[in-house]
Amino acid sequence: MTSSTTIAGTASAAEAPAASEFREPPREAWYCVKSTGSLAPGAMTSITVLGEQIVLGRMKTGRLFALRDRCPHRGAPLSEGGFDGDAITCPFHGWRFGGDGRCQAMPTLVDGDVADPGQVKVGAFPVRESDGIIWLYMGAEVAAAPPVPALTLAGATRCRAAVSVLVEASYDLCVLSLIDPGHVGYVHNSWWWRPTATAREKVKDFEPLPFGFRMTAHQASTNSRGYRLLGRPQTEVDFLLPGQRIERIRIGERSIINATFATPIDARRTLFTNVLLSDLPQLMPLSPLIRWVGRAFLRQDQRILELAQQGLERKPTMLLLGQADRLAQWYFRLKRDYAAARHEGKAFSNTLVPERLRWRT
Ligand code: FES
Ligand SMILES: [Fe+2]
Repeated sequence: MTSSTTIAGTASAAEAPAASEFREPPREAWYCVKSTGSLAPGAMTSITVLGEQIVLGRMKTGRLFALRDRCPHRGAPLSEGGFDGDAITCPFHGWRFGGDGRCQAMPTLVDGDVADPGQVKVGAFPVRESDGIIWLYMGAEVAAAPPVPALTLAGATRCRAAVSVLVEASYDLCVLSLIDPGHVGYVHNSWWWRPTATAREKVKDFEPLPFGFRMTAHQASTNSRGYRLLGRPQTEVDFLLPGQRIERIRIGERSIINATFATPIDARRTLFTNVLLSDLPQLMPLSPLIRWVGRAFLRQDQRILELAQQGLERKPTMLLLGQADRLAQWYFRLKRDYAAARHEGKAFSNTLVPERLRWRT
């Protein structure tokens, strides 16, 4: 998989990544692929992640599976076959495969044929379900990877809204938009969120996390209408590899978790999934409105990212300048160091240090 983005010509040259280093998102990472509710027992579906076709399904027992969507016999897509909740039947010659990828039957065999179905296996990928999200892992050694994030509320979940938008832009470009304070006043400048004219200087404190960094708890911006409606709560934002932004908004004892996950579909397409969870009872009737706002935000990003992608395809370089672009530099550094650690078979250690950043938004 190749991608057209990323070279940072930057004010701090030490941070500038070489063009060749950032072609691909890591395989050694969990990616959000679906909402739990979208895959019932006995259902299967075809998805693409990191350019590979995967058949994702749920056995009638409830257990999930993810297999390479290619029959080893003649290459037919298993997702086009039948699934009875126990096994997939290939649409071409009827070979049957279990959720572990092992072939269970080859109906054309007769007594005396020298073939053992049990020796034939389709590649299987780790798949996990947590907080209403299905996560897929396509690399080696799950243990050394950033864990699936915990979206834990103190009280019972009263509101849950999830929306996804597919963006025709590379993974790096999309992930940068999750940690880009400078775009908010221009891209998300709707009357109901933050008009451009209200920009002012902000000061934020950051600290490293095992696989990312945290904008530490602070009172939410006064120039965002959405936060003002909530009475200017405390907010804290984590960015985690491979491309996750998790905001925790605290209103007294209750909280709202606003999480956005980027999933690399292929070199030029990225799926954004936004999940909002809350234990605030007042939010329960507002789920449709919250979904509408989530989708509106993602569509605003989608439009500008697709235009920027076209510019990057004409010339694949970017500039990372000023403190507002420091988070982008951190992303590239985390990604490069994580890739190096995995390549060398070493444990990843985050070299970021606490820092105070200032910018105007
Ligand atoms: S291609 Fe699948 S059984 Fe022949
Ligand atoms: Fe955005």
